[in-house]
Amino acid sequence: MTEKRLINADVVDVNQLMPLKYHWAWEHYLNGNRNHWQPQEVPMGRDVATWKGGDLSPAERRVILRNLGFFSTAESLVANNIVLAIFRHVTNPECRQYLLRQAFEEAIHTHCFHYIVESLGLDGEEIFTMHREVNTIAGKDEFDMALTAELMDSDFNTQTVEGAQKFVENLVGFYVIMEGIFFYSGFAMMLSFHRQNRMTGIGQQFQYILRDESTHLNFGIDLINGIVAENPRVWTPELRARLSAKIERAVELEIAYAEDCLPHGILGLNAGLFRDYVQHIADRRLERIGLPVRYGSPNPFPWMSEAIDLKKEKNFFETTVTEYQSSAALSWD
Ligand SMILES: [Fe+2]
Ligand SMILES: [Fe+2]
Repeated sequence: MTEKRLINADVVDVNQLMPLKYHWAWEHYLNGNRNHWQPQEVPMGRDVATWKGGDLSPAERRVILRNLGFFSTAESLVANNIVLAIFRHVTNPECRQYLLRQAFEEAIHTHCFHYIVESLGLDGEEIFTMHREVNTIAGKDEFDMALTAELMDSDFNTQTVEGAQKFVENLVGFYVIMEGIFFYSGFAMMLSFHRQNRMTGIGQQFQYILRDESTHLNFGIDLINGIVAENPRVWTPELRARLSAKIERAVELEIAYAEDCLPHGILGLNAGLFRDYVQHIADRRLERIGLPVRYGSPNPFPWMSEAIDLKKEKNFFETTVTEYQSSAALSWD
């Protein structure tokens, strides 16, 4: 058998999983399977009553609509990037097994936003075109779409140092920036409603998504660090400077997005807190991929780290009863 490598092994080899070499990839895969969920399991009745009643201010509605607009399409960009850009170049079977699981989760997430829009009777045309119509959303999306496009060039490969560096840049752009920074002010906004016991159906869906996304982020960081460890020549001072600059630019885009969602502050949140929060999480991401921290900002939302670990939310799973079809429950007649 050819030696297992994260990149630059045979692209079309049989996916021979065992023996595992990258146990972390398999663990992330099992972890993803343990967290399986579906949007329709979450009851939306209370949210519908709140949305249609007079309980939400125009500013609160704006936050909800902007985030539905951003996430509904951003999820599809992540899925596209896995299928069109990452899968071909990650040549390790256990990582590919994880990528298949992640791609399915991104489909669930896209589905989730359609389910919410439909449940609340929102204007789909308005929500699903925000990626074009709202500048601060378009800015974030274009930033990541450019990274997918670079890898779709038919000449692209990871055999050269330059190619492998571009690939690492794509992984940082999606795992660290899109799923690790661009998603997080939206998570904090939507979970703030949940903390006030309002729009709890949406809150619960965002909590499921946040749990999935934190696994995606952890896989991405292991993959990036693994590729760099196996290919130390890619980790040049130039690449490090380029990645740091990209993350800095992403922080500005994310702060602009938060300001646009919350021009006047609601829910005890305001744009200044988001500046700190986005800078705080950017520092955490930088240190995990071995880059110097940049901001030193405090974390204004310490409750977010609790929200990531759902086990701490005692009653979370008691709101719905879920029964999965087991093979015994399937009928063949
Ligand atoms: Fe997602
Ligand atoms: Fe994701």
